[in-house]
Amino acid sequence: MKTLPSLSRRSFGKVLAAAPWILRAQPAPARARIKIDTERVIGDIDPKIYGNFIEHLGRCIEGGIFDEGSPLSDSDGFRRDVLDAAKKLNVTLLRWPGGNFSSNYNWTDGIGPRDQRPRRLEMAWGTVEDNRFGTHEFMQYIEKLGAEPYFCTNLGVGSWQQAQQWVEYCNSSEDTAMTRLRKQNGRAQPWKVTYWGLGNEMDGPWQMGHRSADDYGKFALEAAKLMKWTDPGIKLIAAGSSNFGPNADWTGWNRTVLEHLKHHVDYLSLHMYVGNRGNDFGDFMASSVELDSRIKTAAGIIDAALSGEPASRRIYIAWDEWNVWYRARGEGKEQGRRILEERYNLEDALVVATFLNTFVNHSHVVKIANMAQLVNVIAPMFASEKGLFLQTIYYPLQLFANNSKGKSLELFVDSPKYASKRFGDVPYLDTSAAYDNGALVLNVVNRHPDRAIEADFEAQDKKFSGAVEAWEVNGPDIKAENDFDSTKVRAVQRSAAAQGNRLAYNFPPHSYTMLKVRLV
Ligand code: AHR
Repeated sequence: MKTLPSLSRRSFGKVLAAAPWILRAQPAPARARIKIDTERVIGDIDPKIYGNFIEHLGRCIEGGIFDEGSPLSDSDGFRRDVLDAAKKLNVTLLRWPGGNFSSNYNWTDGIGPRDQRPRRLEMAWGTVEDNRFGTHEFMQYIEKLGAEPYFCTNLGVGSWQQAQQWVEYCNSSEDTAMTRLRKQNGRAQPWKVTYWGLGNEMDGPWQMGHRSADDYGKFALEAAKLMKWTDPGIKLIAAGSSNFGPNADWTGWNRTVLEHLKHHVDYLSLHMYVGNRGNDFGDFMASSVELDSRIKTAAGIIDAALSGEPASRRIYIAWDEWNVWYRARGEGKEQGRRILEERYNLEDALVVATFLNTFVNHSHVVKIANMAQLVNVIAPMFASEKGLFLQTIYYPLQLFANNSKGKSLELFVDSPKYASKRFGDVPYLDTSAAYDNGALVLNVVNRHPDRAIEADFEAQDKKFSGAVEAWEVNGPDIKAENDFDSTKVRAVQRSAAAQGNRLAYNFPPHSYTMLKVRLV
């Protein structure tokens, strides 16, 4: 312990200037209060918010999930290690084939004998597409993974008929030229693909076939009609705005597109990628504040579009691309197939956890969300020809996808705050809660870079019962990364206990913790 020597007033002043800690009171431990009421339900958590996405881009498909001839692949060419790790992520919905790639993709190139499929210039990512992975390979992967498929059609340079015939090829039981072709290619029964996107990011000038909101709305409407007439059971996803550029009109695009499509679509697709460009931990950790606000704005636009419509007519949000992505932007030293190979650190994993909190907290309106992407390309898994490692962002996604189910609860949270540059005052603790038949899951991110926060939970209408399961995602420092031979960031089991209707837990700095306990 430090003690003060006896000093004259003048020398004491000098000592104070050099060592101000002498008079500074030790900060009181940071505390938060959180109340839980199982009747304060936000909505049903749709398992499809734990979706993922694979695109013909870099080493996501070829060299990622699909690696023909690799000793690590099964007899169908699928990487076994990637598939096993993907299964543990409990991927519920898998979006394919893009992304930007879909805007110049002719699905008929990807069917039939693999060695006879055409090689095409791929202009979204500046490469050549060999089409060895197409509709049948994707559906085979879907079956192995146990996920639901989500196709994104080409409304860039593609036609209404191409989109309609893809639905017919996949879903129809009629005897037609399309279904005969499917049978000839080895699939007798229709697959019955439910989720179909009407193009990708059509508001972006980077998109092949980019259109104005009005032109896209009119074009997508005709595609939507034909697709639903082919199979009325399908669900359609309209391309909402993903352009956050200075001249973009995010709300205007969403409003116009919904005016055209509100009687035909079931979801509005939105995307968001964030990054720590200014190396400001506090600002970066607050990125989900923007996500939260955009979800609210989009929900308002949807409500306005549907006002006057029967209550049964619903449109939900499909946040079908999201992640941290700012380092590997496909420029500079990235070469050939090794593009968008973002390496993630602990702070990225925490931001991912706050995004998942935000989706759970809007479970009444966000019914689909797809992390982009599954492997190698801005992804939770990283594979080489020799093996695989789990990136930091894998762990929060795994914990959420396997545990946060049922109904989401609105928590009362009184947390200390900090002043962020971009988002004003932001609570250090970011939270969500899921309640499923007596099982309560609490997700808590401590955004503080160097202080623990002690939280007192109080159940309002029930009591805690039995053991508390606690998992913490953390690491030695916020920039810690994983690699093939080192796992610095992962989920570690901790201990916790509850008594009666009270549970106290000390959330360490820069951590995401999941607490799971029964309520009776
Ligand atoms: O996921 C990478 C790219 O990001 C997708 O192709 C595109 O939709 C988005 O801009």
